Amino acid sequence: MKEAMMNAQVGDDVFGEDFSINQLESTAAGMFGMEAGLFCPSGTMTNQIAIKCHTQPGDEVICDETSHVYQYEGGGIAFNSGASVKLLHGDRGRISSEQVLHSISLP
Ligand SMILES: Cc1ncc(COP(=O)(O)O)c(C=O)c1O
Repeated sequence: MKEAMMNAQVGDDVFGEDFSINQLESTAAGMFGMEAGLFCPSGTMTNQIAIKCHTQPGDEVICDETSHVYQYEGGGIAFNSGASVKLLHGDRGRISSEQVLHSISLP
């Protein structure tokens, strides 16, 4: 792994000049049938971007009470997206579609 990292063709991703990132994003986009991909260097960053993309301020994010986005991401849902959280008691982290359906708050 270290050898691959040392030999990777790199560049400034801000200018789209990082060959390895460009290749990774384009391969991932192709795998999922999307027009473009976006490499995120951490899981927390990825989760927070996804929540921001899928919510509007005032929305509610429904998740298990043990979920990483709630327990370990420092209130990022409220800070980054202006959304609140509704916690469900799942089965070792797994929640059912019925639980989600019954917990949706209608305006
Ligand atoms: C089990 C687990 N560990 C760690 C993370 C955070 O990843 P990172 O340390 O890359 O931000 C996540 C994010 O969803 C996770 O689900």
